[in-house]
Amino acid sequence: MPRQLFVTTALPYANGPFHIGHMMEYIQADIWVRFQRMQGHAVHFVGADDAHGAPIMIAAEKAGKTPQQFVANIAAGRKPYLDGFHIDFDHWHSTDAPENHQLAQDTYRALRRNGLIFTRDVEQFFDPVKGMFLPDRYIKGECPKCGAKDQYGDSCEVCGAVYAPTELKHPYSTLTGAAPVRKSSEHHFFQLSSSRCIGFLQEWTVGAGQDGSPRLQAEVLNKIKEWFTVDEFGHGGLADWDISRDAPYFGIEIPDAPGKYFYVWLDAPIGYLASLKSYFDSGKARERGEARSFDEFMADPATEQVHFIGKDITYFHTLFWPAMLHFSGRKTPDHVFVHGFITVSGEKMSKSRGTGIDPLRYLQLGLNPEWLRYYIAAKLNGKVEDVDFNPDDFVARVNSDLVGKYVNIASRAAGFLARRFGNRLAAELGADGRTLLEGLQAAAGDITALYDQREYAKALRETMALADRVNEYVDANKPWELAKKAGEDARLHDVCSTCIEAFRLLTLYLKPVLPALAAQVEAFLRIEPLSSVDASRLLGAHEIGGYSHLLQRVDAKLVDALFEAPAQAPAPEAAVAGKSGNGAPASALLPGGEALAPTIAIEDFARIDLRLALIVDAARVEGSTKLLKLTLDVGEAQSRTVFSGIQSAFDPAALVGKMTVVVANLAPRKMKFGLSEGMVLAASHVDDKTHPGLFLLEPTAGAVPGLRVR
Ligand code: 2FM
Ligand code: ZN
Repeated sequence: MPRQLFVTTALPYANGPFHIGHMMEYIQADIWVRFQRMQGHAVHFVGADDAHGAPIMIAAEKAGKTPQQFVANIAAGRKPYLDGFHIDFDHWHSTDAPENHQLAQDTYRALRRNGLIFTRDVEQFFDPVKGMFLPDRYIKGECPKCGAKDQYGDSCEVCGAVYAPTELKHPYSTLTGAAPVRKSSEHHFFQLSSSRCIGFLQEWTVGAGQDGSPRLQAEVLNKIKEWFTVDEFGHGGLADWDISRDAPYFGIEIPDAPGKYFYVWLDAPIGYLASLKSYFDSGKARERGEARSFDEFMADPATEQVHFIGKDITYFHTLFWPAMLHFSGRKTPDHVFVHGFITVSGEKMSKSRGTGIDPLRYLQLGLNPEWLRYYIAAKLNGKVEDVDFNPDDFVARVNSDLVGKYVNIASRAAGFLARRFGNRLAAELGADGRTLLEGLQAAAGDITALYDQREYAKALRETMALADRVNEYVDANKPWELAKKAGEDARLHDVCSTCIEAFRLLTLYLKPVLPALAAQVEAFLRIEPLSSVDASRLLGAHEIGGYSHLLQRVDAKLVDALFEAPAQAPAPEAAVAGKSGNGAPASALLPGGEALAPTIAIEDFARIDLRLALIVDAARVEGSTKLLKLTLDVGEAQSRTVFSGIQSAFDPAALVGKMTVVVANLAPRKMKFGLSEGMVLAASHVDDKTHPGLFLLEPTAGAVPGLRVR
């Protein structure tokens, strides 16, 4: 029976761009989702921005924006990361969306009907300088449990304890530095300490998901046991949960309680459901073959709910969340899969600042996203262990495994098949080849189980051990020598065909991790998208396509550049191609004063749309010594305005009527003097002070505006 899965990753706070920690979680979940889909299971994979809470409200205020604008701004920046690393979410939503307001209020009402909500006056910290109740995150002090200093008001990053802000020792307001004063107001509580909740959770946490495997990891259960434990003095155990915050607060209003809002952690996980609902309502679930409504889908006992999260938010997801769901009459998660943190060269990451690895910079430098997917996968297991990104290890691992072991198999065989056998594989394979392939096929069961258990490191180790076997077969049979000997054609054909069959099987096993590379291989082999059923098949006398280079080796210099401070963004006036450094080390300088940029694939170049443009008008820009305002005819219905930093080199009048080259698909850029809708290309030395000279490009005679330059 195909499984029907609802899978989420933790919803990121909408207060900053993604860092490598987010990407690790998304990569972990995405691999699992892709794997399940390859097994023929239906997976609905959603995410959302976690929009609410005081930190976002305060950050928005500082930025001079409404919280809604602030959050929308952050959300608008998510796509390049998700697309860039091939994270295949079906839907991305926001916890501030109407669905979430509705679901959170419904959940609350259900819990209230169930007698699990009560109110009580709470003395809370109030910042007398700022004039508001102090949000948890803006009070720091010492952890009441372990004594760690500078801990936030809701939970301890050192020992994982969760507590009320007023329990902190030696508190201070991080907004104003003032010592907070206590002030009383009525708060709403979820009665987690009730015997009903405790009884339910004690059973739930040790239960199994519908797939029969334990719902929670062993280490997580151990932690939970600690949380359940009441010591001889009656301390510890589950405490009631304060779910309300006083206005001003960016959140969801509590029904029948004017001026009170849900604490962000109440509505955040409900955002999982809200995103799924919005995805169903948008018709996208139907496109995935799910014809039922959100309610019907969630009411089906066969629907499995799976959350991927980091270890720091275990308490919320394994206690509050299942209790809230259960006592509001909803399905509870089948699994909460907890992962550790990512460190970089052994150094812990800051939750707000991330690490030295900026995922977007990684992409901008031209580093292949699948290298990172592979490297992270090669270090992940089903436990709650931290993962370390080590730059040298990264380079070595990707180069030796992916290029040296895997891709080489295809490149060693494909040339002979093309030159000697018209790209057609042999119909019959020799006994040794068949044995080799049977061995590869026999591993499918193991590798499948490992992916399902999130033991990616083991799955990849096993796959690479298979690749080793294939390479041993190649070395033993030496196709390059067979090719030179008379009468060995059939054997050469056999060996190379076996290699391609093996390469296809290895690709199948790597596909959840390397989806784009797998797609390239599928095109090269002229086969349908690989799925688990393909493990028991072989291609036989099949015609494959021509081989083109599949994967570059990692250039260690590029990885170094990742850790260097990014080059200053060029001033808009200097935004002429060739002048903005990318922070790569300047070795082997060409006459232009710069080293050759890192190699890119043809597809990378194809993303840049260069067009011929006629300079219809050119004028100096008042207030700028560098810019010319160019009016360009790019063959479109309307002309474009481009501001270009070429004033020093050209008389505007002399430019009018000339043709040149523009980057036509560059995102429009708002400049002080107006919107610039493209960029004119010019050649120059990197240091225009010591080497003045700026040269526009002009096409040869007969060219017309709008032609693409490729
Ligand atoms: O820790 C965090 O980043 C939270 N924004 C995670 C929320 S997960 C879910 F509950 F929404
Ligand atoms: Zn602590």
